[in-house]
Amino acid sequence: MIVLGVESSCDETGLALYDTGRGLLSHALHSQVAMHEEYGGVVPELASRDHIRRAIPLLQQTLEGAHIAAADIDAIAFTQGPGLAGALLVGSSIACSLGLALDKPVLGIHHLEGHLLSPLLASDPPEFPFVALLVSGGHTQLMRVDGVGQYELLGETLDDAAGEAFDKSAKLLGLGYPGGPAISRLAEFGDPAAYKLPRPMLHSKDLNFSFSGLKTAVLTVVKNAGAANVCEQDKANIARGFVDAIVDVLVAKCVAALKQTSLKRLVIAGGVGANSQLRAALNAAAARKRFRVYYPELEFCTDNGAMIAFAGAMRLSINPGAAKREYAFNVRPR
Ligand code: KG4
Ligand code: ZN
Repeated sequence: MIVLGVESSCDETGLALYDTGRGLLSHALHSQVAMHEEYGGVVPELASRDHIRRAIPLLQQTLEGAHIAAADIDAIAFTQGPGLAGALLVGSSIACSLGLALDKPVLGIHHLEGHLLSPLLASDPPEFPFVALLVSGGHTQLMRVDGVGQYELLGETLDDAAGEAFDKSAKLLGLGYPGGPAISRLAEFGDPAAYKLPRPMLHSKDLNFSFSGLKTAVLTVVKNAGAANVCEQDKANIARGFVDAIVDVLVAKCVAALKQTSLKRLVIAGGVGANSQLRAALNAAAARKRFRVYYPELEFCTDNGAMIAFAGAMRLSINPGAAKREYAFNVRPR
């Protein structure tokens, strides 16, 4: 069965074809980062318009890459939410229009399920069950995953998501958008002893997170250091203090979740999963505590169509009736 995946929840247009027999056939992505950069964040209206411009050329590119015709597609999976309403509507209308034109069934996919299953696209995928840490721009959650569709929420952020904390702190340091990669690069040059920032909820007895206090701590440090006049080395030191704090909390909660569930496999998904300091700290903890950690391929950490095609194929393998010839544009932004 060949499933087309369409992702358009935020600022990436992703199309992909996944074959349940042969694996990922091809995928194509357009990132709008350069377009939103000058505004310091995603402008929803611009995002929707750009998805419209990019979707069909990317679809053609994906079909050519897979050497198949549109008629060979068996089902179409699209990101139904959460995300920006207008952006989601573009993906959903593309999927439904194609479905109607080709007489193929469509199914909506939860964006986070796409992220959650993305490590299974890797060459050495984890077996179920595992603990998953989902760290994206909008979410921070720890889950127990027993199979496709069998997810138990173990803990989540009470306020900002981890990616949001990265982006907002980067903004306070005058770094560009998206801030995650920028603050991470800068932190490499920072002195870890210069700023000891708070580790919110590190010792709470649950698996929840809170990052808004950390962001406020960055704001206070930036103000005290002279706001706009912070020198480059001091910026790097603050970046380092921030990254060390957030990584400490994320790693500690993952270790606690593995202990609570008695599981030995940890899966990392979502954009912050691309972070090199987080990966290094998790790998060190894994060696120390004897668990195994799995990551998606770097290109599938951030938003992409492959994870949506794959999640669609997995959903259909457990419930072939999940895709329907119903073409109402049905999105769930929240
Ligand atoms: O999963 P994703 O592409 O989109 C959402 O579903 O939110 O995640 C985007 C988030 C942004 O906050 C971005 O700053 C963060 O992931 N991110 C990173 C890195 N690469 C992306 N954060 C830290 N280090 C990175 N290398
Ligand atoms: Zn995402």
